[in-house]
Amino acid sequence: MWTLELEGRVAFVTGSTRGIGWACARALAGAGATVVLNGRNDAARLDARVAELRALAPAEHFGVLCDVGDPAAVRSGYRALFERFRRLDVLVNNAGILQDALLGMISDEIVATTFAVNALGPLYSLQEASRLMARKRSGSIVNVASIIGVAGNTGQAAYGASKAALIGLTRSAAKELAPKNIRVNAVAPGFIQTDMTSQLPKAKYDERVASIGMKRIGMPEDVAEVVLFLASDRSAYVTGQVIGVDGGMLI
Ligand code: NAI
Repeated sequence: MWTLELEGRVAFVTGSTRGIGWACARALAGAGATVVLNGRNDAARLDARVAELRALAPAEHFGVLCDVGDPAAVRSGYRALFERFRRLDVLVNNAGILQDALLGMISDEIVATTFAVNALGPLYSLQEASRLMARKRSGSIVNVASIIGVAGNTGQAAYGASKAALIGLTRSAAKELAPKNIRVNAVAPGFIQTDMTSQLPKAKYDERVASIGMKRIGMPEDVAEVVLFLASDRSAYVTGQVIGVDGGMLI
């Protein structure tokens, strides 16, 4: 059973006003962490989520509005976090975007925004977070990658490349930060029920579900449980790993 084993710790979850990020925030707060939520530009939505989380798991949960793909905005977000808490124990690099396009249709704009949010954003955040974590010589960073970064998919070359980059970042940062007792891991979700997947036409949806060994779409909570494990001391000797959360989609 999970107890309040993250009590006294501060966790930052990017892109946490809905979907997998929001589920991660709830799981971490449920285990006792004080959670810093993040949204890109909707202050009212972020404030509402902070209030909701405070009601669910009372603590000083906090909101930081910033576009993770903008390095200056990320730095000022971390300044606000530092001024408020003076520490960071857990970072979940969750914010991500998906823009499907066949190879010939991938625009410069798709390449730039996909890499800014999915690959460079986590790098900027990881730089800031690891500086804070190094002060205490402990911390856990969890990157939300994707099965597509491992296995690829038609129409998802830009997305897959950005998630593969995130996996490369995970492994390099894990090597560099292990001597400082900062762990860096990734989860690679398969097909999870969120706004990101809700637009899929029914035929495609059914095809995806049929390709899953367990024959069901994953829930954001399925991912959040694994993120919680990686964030906690229960995984104290695990670093540099990419853990699939895909119901047997990729075996
Ligand atoms: P979602 O679209 O429901 O939520 C994404 C969140 O990230 C939103 O809160 C959004 O506002 C935020 N976000 C987007 N761009 C941002 C930016 N520039 N700055 C700050 N926040 C930003 O998507 P979902 O499904 O919850 O995805 C979360 C993560 O999981 C993403 O990294 C995604 O690539 C990954 N993933 C999702 C899968 C799925 O089947 N839903 C499968 C594999 C990976």
